[in-house]
Order: sequence, then C-alpha cells, then structure tokens
Amino acid sequence: MKVCVVGSGGREHAFVESLSMDSEVVVSPGSAGIRGSTSAPVTDIDADLYVIGPEVPLVNGLADEIRSFGGCVFGPGKEGARLEASKSWMKDLVNAAGVPTAGYESFGQSQIEEAIEFLTTYGPPYVIKTDGLAAGKGVLVTNSYNEAVSDIKEKLSGAAFGDAGKQIVIEEGLSGPELSLFAFCDGQKAVLIPTSAQDHKRLLDDNRGPNTGGMGCYSPMPSMSQADLEGLMDLAVHPTIEELKNRSIDYRGVLFAGFIMTTDGPKLLEYNVRFGDPEAQVILPRLENSLSETLLQVAQGNLQNQPTVSSDAMVTVVLASEGYPLSPRMGDPIQGLDEARAIDGVTVFCAGVKSNSQGELLTNGGRVLNICGRAATVEAARELAYQAVDLIFWPGMQHRADIGASIETEPNQEVIK
Ligand code: AMP
Ligand code: GLY
Repeated sequence: MKVCVVGSGGREHAFVESLSMDSEVVVSPGSAGIRGSTSAPVTDIDADLYVIGPEVPLVNGLADEIRSFGGCVFGPGKEGARLEASKSWMKDLVNAAGVPTAGYESFGQSQIEEAIEFLTTYGPPYVIKTDGLAAGKGVLVTNSYNEAVSDIKEKLSGAAFGDAGKQIVIEEGLSGPELSLFAFCDGQKAVLIPTSAQDHKRLLDDNRGPNTGGMGCYSPMPSMSQADLEGLMDLAVHPTIEELKNRSIDYRGVLFAGFIMTTDGPKLLEYNVRFGDPEAQVILPRLENSLSETLLQVAQGNLQNQPTVSSDAMVTVVLASEGYPLSPRMGDPIQGLDEARAIDGVTVFCAGVKSNSQGELLTNGGRVLNICGRAATVEAARELAYQAVDLIFWPGMQHRADIGASIETEPNQEVIK
C-alpha cells in the first residue's frame, strides 16, 4: 500500500515510522529529518491512503478536497473538523448530545458589554476562549476580574487573535485533574485506543512558565484503567458520534477528547480532530495492529481491527530551541543525534529540522526533536529518554527535566494565554 502523510512535525514522523513497517510512505511536506519527504503538493500525489496529521489542513477542508477526487482519507472533513475549529459549535453539539461540559455562552464582536456583564454569572475562575483556532493559546483562565475584562476586550476587538478571537466563549470555571483519550472513528462508530497519555504543557519544570504546544509526554498513566476510559467513551464520545451522524457528518479519523474530573464527575473540556503532538509519539509506536491497515479501515468507513496497545511504557522529552514559545531561534546545528539514536530503546522523532548544504541537521522550529525512551515502566523509559537527551546539544536548547517524573495528573493551570 502507498500512504501519503500530510504534515511536517514529530507527530507526522511517528506516523511515518509506524506506517513504513508495511507500506510505502511519502510525506508532504515533511522535513529533512523524515524519510520519504517530498515537496510535491498532496493533491499531486497518488496514494491508496492519505493521513492528515495537523488540524489546520483538516479545518481548511483538505480531506474533502482529496475525497472529491476519489482519495481515501484518514481525517475528518471541514464539517467534522468544526469540533476543534469552533468552540461554540462544539459546545452546541455536545449539549445536544447530552454530554456533561462546563456551562457557557458565546459572544460576537458587537457584544462586548453583554460579555462583560455575563462574566459574573459563574464567578472566578473566569474562563474566556477564542472561538477559533489559536494554536492552543486562545484560553485565559484567571481569578482576576480585571484581567478577564481586558481579555474580553482584546479578543473581541480582534487585537489579540485576529479573526479567531472575534467570537468568544465564556465558560464556567471548573477544577480537577485533567486527562485525554483517543478514539478511532469510522463515520459509524468510535473505538477507544486503550491507553492514556499525559502532556506537560508548560515550558518549565513544575508546570511553571508559559503554555506551549507540549514539552513532553508519557504513556500510560498508571491511574487510568481501561474501564475508566470506556466510561468516558460512554459519557462523551459515543453520544458525540451519534449526534454527528444525526447531522449527517461522516467523521473518519481520530477524536482526541480532553476531560476535567470535577467533584461533580467528569466533564468534557475540548475535542481535537487529530492526534496530539507529542501524545502520538508515545502511543503510535505501541499500537500492536498494523497502523496502515487500521487507518485504511477507518478511512474506508469500516474499522474491523480492535486497536490493542503494548503494555510497556514510553516517555518523550521535547527539545525546543532558544526563545520558544515566543520567538524561537532557528538554524543552529544539532549535535549528538546519532549517538542518542544508538541507545537501545531510544527513538528520536524530528519535529522542526532542516538540513544545510553539507547535509547537517539544523534547528528549524520551536519544538525541534522528540527524544523517546521505551521500556517496561514509565520510570525506566524516562531514564532512557534523559540518557539520550544528555547526548544532544545546540546553543540555547531548552527542555524540561521532569517529564514523567511525578506520574499523576497535572494541577489545573492558573493562567493560560
Ligand atoms: P481547551 O483548549 O478548551 O482544552 O483549554 C485549554 C486548557 O484550559 C485546559 O487544558 C484547561 O487546563 C483549561 N480550561 C479550559 N476550560 C476550562 C474550564 N471551563 N475551567 C477550568 N479550566 C479550563
Ligand atoms: N499536545 C496537545 C495537542 O496536541 O493539542
């Protein structure tokens, strides 16, 4: 089978490595660190299966475009991708499906006064979200009323996030541990990927510093049993798929559901319409079925494989460039990659790299490399990952030293901008 992967980050590199076990794989655009990369546009590539990694092309309707010329695609069309692209659309849909979620109201550009008035409905912490995509940065959670009011004004005026912020959702503030799950959806049903992963979103150790795309991840979370995860599928994912079907939306891909476990029970926080990055890097390599076959079945609307995941553990540590997340510096030569890769049990995925004319790898993004350790336990996997991290160097390289160190749920984040 020939598979075309769309994207260029660490998640896509993880897809490529698993798919290459039994398929020919091309990646558009990929990077100098990912084999099979091509500059040819996706629509010029003839493949049996197209796997779209990131949310932006999904939200822009790439899956629909490929399907319109008969291609078989893993990834939802534009309508289904609205689960991630519009918070208010998502909230309306899950309410119609009876899924427990934080109370909310949405407001447009002409409603700044109404939005400020509504703020006190729930009291602190105040939660204000851009309706549209904001690369994970569109959410403010704060106890400060004044900060919340300024945020409403900045978002609705378009000053903070442009068009993505001109519609906002104000939510009831919830607290409790958070967790995510992943399910394959073939348009008819959703099937749990039976493992859990925990991302570390803050830049610095002990969950300090600014929010990022994710600085590292471990899987599984020992506290989550398969029965717990199936309970969340019944609570949220299955009813959501039924509601999508009621609206004639044929959702084929993965659904990434984020929950907060409150004293009133679990509530759905968000849906993403693609695998997490770096969650994929610690889950995909542990899937025991052929990934090509499973993704093809999902894309064809007929998932037969029951996904199973090996019982060992993975930890991935993100190596980021100087200045990340605000203004990452690029173009630094990366040293020690071969030595790191030579360690048994270590895999390195490339998230943001390019090569120079001598074929050396250089940094080319905020998140540059994902250093993964795989072993029987999270502790052992973590040790391997950090052994490899110690071998890699470029000027200004940043990473967290505590990925997977305290294996419990991260505390609720106070302020996320
Ligand atoms: P979201 O992109 O909607 O998942 O929000 C990003 C992060 O903001 C979540 O992972 C939570 O830590 C926090 N958050 C979002 N919604 C709420 C809420 N209603 N109450 C408290 N924290 C929230
Ligand atoms: N790691 C979080 C995300 O991919 O959204």
